[in-house]
This record gives sequence, C-alpha cells and structure tokens, in this order.
Amino acid sequence: MKTIHTVADMQGLRRELSGNIGLVPTMGFLHKGHISLAKRARAENDLVIATIFVNPTQFGPNEDLAAYPRDLPRDLSLLENAGVDFVFVPTPDELYPPGFQTWVELDDLPQRLEGAHRPGHFRGVATIVTKLFNLTRPTRAYFGQKDAQQAVVIRRFTRDLNFDIDIVICPTVREPDGLAMSSRNIYLNPKERQAATVLFRALSTAQAAFSDGERDADRLRTMMQGILATEPLARPDYVSLADAETLAELSGQIEGRALASMAVRVGPARLIDNMILN
Ligand code: PAJ
Repeated sequence: MKTIHTVADMQGLRRELSGNIGLVPTMGFLHKGHISLAKRARAENDLVIATIFVNPTQFGPNEDLAAYPRDLPRDLSLLENAGVDFVFVPTPDELYPPGFQTWVELDDLPQRLEGAHRPGHFRGVATIVTKLFNLTRPTRAYFGQKDAQQAVVIRRFTRDLNFDIDIVICPTVREPDGLAMSSRNIYLNPKERQAATVLFRALSTAQAAFSDGERDADRLRTMMQGILATEPLARPDYVSLADAETLAELSGQIEGRALASMAVRVGPARLIDNMILN
C-alpha cells in the first residue's frame, strides 16, 4: 500500500493508473463501518484508493474539528489489511490553499435534517467530495447509509455535475447492541455509551410498527420521540420521518420510501442514525 500526501503526487499517480478504481473517502479514526466500504471496493474494482482527511470546511464554528479523534498509524494498517492500494492523506493547506474560493452548493437538500442544524456542512461535504472525485477519477465511490442525507446529497450532485461515477451506498455497520459505529462514539463514557442504544431502539420500534402496517408518519415520529424520552441522558436535536429521496418531512399516510432519522446529543457526542422503512 502506498501513501500519497500532495495534490501533485495524487495527480501524477492517477495519470499512471488504469482499470476500474474504487474510491473510499473517510475522515480517519477508522472502524468496521469504514472497513466494510473498503472491502466492498476491494471486491468490485481493480484498484482501491482510500482517503483520510478531516475536512475543516464541513465543521461549524462550534463543532468538534479540533477534538476530532485521529490515529493515522492504526488507520493505515487497517486499510492495508483491507486490501487498499493507495491512501491519500493530504494536509488542509494542500486542499484549501490561500485564495481558495470555489464551492459546490445544493439548493434544497441541505435545508433538511442535518443541514438545517449544521449550516454550511453539506457545502463542505459536496466541495471536498467533488475535489476527491476530480483528483482520483474513480469508477465507483463508496459511502455509508449511516450518513443518509450525505448519501442523498452526493448522489444528487454526482448527477447534477455529470460525474461518470457509480455511487455505492453500503449498509450501516452496528455494534452488537445496535449502536451505529461512529468515530464519535469514543466521546461517550460507559453510562452514555449504554444510553446511546436508545437511537437504535427508537428506530427499530418504528421499523417494527411499519412492518406491522402502521403508515401514519406522525404516529411513527411520535413513537420514536416517546422512546427517546425514556432515556434521561438523550437530548434529541430532531426526529424525522421524511421522504427518502427529497428528504421533505412527511405527515399523514406514507406512500413511497420513507427515511426515519434522528440526531441526538448524548453527553458530549452528537449522534445520528437512520433506517429506511420498507
Ligand atoms: P466519515 O465520518 O469518516 O465516514 C466515511 C464513510 O464511512 C462515510 O461514507 C460514512 O457514511 C461511512 N460510515 C461511517 N460510519 C459507518 C457505519 N457505521 N456503517 C457504514 N458506513 C459508515 O462521512 C465522512 O467521513 C465525510 O463526510 C466524508 C464523506 C469523508 C467527506 O469529508
């Protein structure tokens, strides 16, 4: 496995590569969720490029950019074991040099869900992923369903900007008790870690009710809020039942694919999780 640090080296390397390329963008501090993407990319492509970059432009001024956990040596060995060929690990200055002023922005999708609570977040995500697409020109790019809105945003701008890239969305990898794996779970103390299972319990309850025939969006949303309210350490930012494509909030009868999702603060962590109801 080869590590690349600069834009010039990444461009130089890409000129030499041929065959199908799978791209796995990450912010590092890798867990089994990230590794599932790398393994899927390994199975489906001739070459796999992973990236590790804690992208400053997708963090708000009061968010955890400085505290975001990092462990590059461990990440590199996990990626090597997953069969990754190249890892791009740029510095912020490489990707955002002085004078940088070009952004990828979407109209409606970022006003929903996470975007409504994190102004500028999806502008940062769309811009960095566009830059990584240009730098690596992959055949396929792999993302997790864990970040449901991110997946919708990336699919949308890939189409809108005519990137010839297959966007592959992989299932959420969970701990045995249902907690979605996340680099941010490290912020939880043992009591908070236990309390954090309430997200999965709320989503599973909605999923079970939906399977039993419940189609009323408001009742399903209220059901999830009720479960979250039983956990004193959990402070919800939002609880949503939305159209899975437009992310518009639903009320009344659910007709198409619905996305149940939530952001919940537990101790110092802000956790997100979701399930597609079908
Ligand atoms: P990061 O949070 O490091 O996640 C990298 C990729 O791993 C994303 O596609 C995310 O959805 C996926 N992922 C995270 N947890 C997962 C889990 N439990 N199961 C399955 N997949 C999971 O998402 C980002 O970084 C950034 O926004 C990025 C796309 C790299 C742009 O900076």
